[in-house]
Amino acid sequence: MSHKFSRRAFAVLTAAAISTSAFATTAPSAIAEPVSNVATADDSSVATSENSLDWGFKASWRTYVTGPWTGGTVDATGGATVNEDGTYNFTLGTGSNYDVDTEKGQLNYEGTVAFASDAHGFNITLSNPQITVEGDTATLSAELSDNAAPEETSTTRVDVAEFELTAPEVSETDADITYTWTDASGTFLETLQPEELSRYAGQEADALSFSITVDKASENPSDDVATGSSSSFLSTILNFLQQLASPLLKLFGSLSS
Ligand code: HEM
Repeated sequence: MSHKFSRRAFAVLTAAAISTSAFATTAPSAIAEPVSNVATADDSSVATSENSLDWGFKASWRTYVTGPWTGGTVDATGGATVNEDGTYNFTLGTGSNYDVDTEKGQLNYEGTVAFASDAHGFNITLSNPQITVEGDTATLSAELSDNAAPEETSTTRVDVAEFELTAPEVSETDADITYTWTDASGTFLETLQPEELSRYAGQEADALSFSITVDKASENPSDDVATGSSSSFLSTILNFLQQLASPLLKLFGSLSS
């Protein structure tokens, strides 16, 4: 009987210890100080539709396409637009997420940029880029033409380039936090297609700029842990409980073995 009790108590205390540690506030290595108030160990958060992606692919390619010898065109549609500096802007699409604690996320963008030249005989489309963030690395994939020939319209999603992320700029409102990465430097990957563009593999890609807005409400279902003062009060109590539980856990562990 006592054996049975001690095993149950052990299980309950273990659960208590796990749930208290789940409230520990951890600041991601790449993220600046204010985050620690709100970045609890809850699951992923949702980026808002206000965030978008700015990327130019590669400046020399853009110059080449519309240059006098190539006489080509760039057509941005379906959520993509051409910025004043000639780079492209893609709208954030659905299903995007970012977990502040693990620094992992996937951002789905919408839009197509078509590069076409009658003189050089190509029509290459780049559509719906996605950024996969893992700590200090961001991999950009996109649906790219399988073949440069204008009559070939099939596309395949491939990894296009990999970028190095430094600490993002953090801005906070009552409702959310926005992390902004500006001009992350990157390199084209071997998987780049079609064949005529694969010459860029290993070369520098245009810099990448994007942001993620984390909704505090979705990040922290409990209002208590979303605000600095009540969060620290709660943390104090939970830390105390955790410290109290630790020797008891050891005691019950040795009794039950
Ligand atoms: C499928 C068709 C073609 C594709 C996809 C293609 C693609 C490319 C790419 C990616 C570059 C490198 C641009 C850079 O970053 O500097 C390039 C350069 C060049 N291409 Fe093409 N090309 C095509 C057809 C042609 C044709 C038909 C000609 C000639 C009539 C041509 C002439 C050139 C020249 C002269 C350069 C060097 C430009 C420079 O260094 O400033 N290309 N091409």
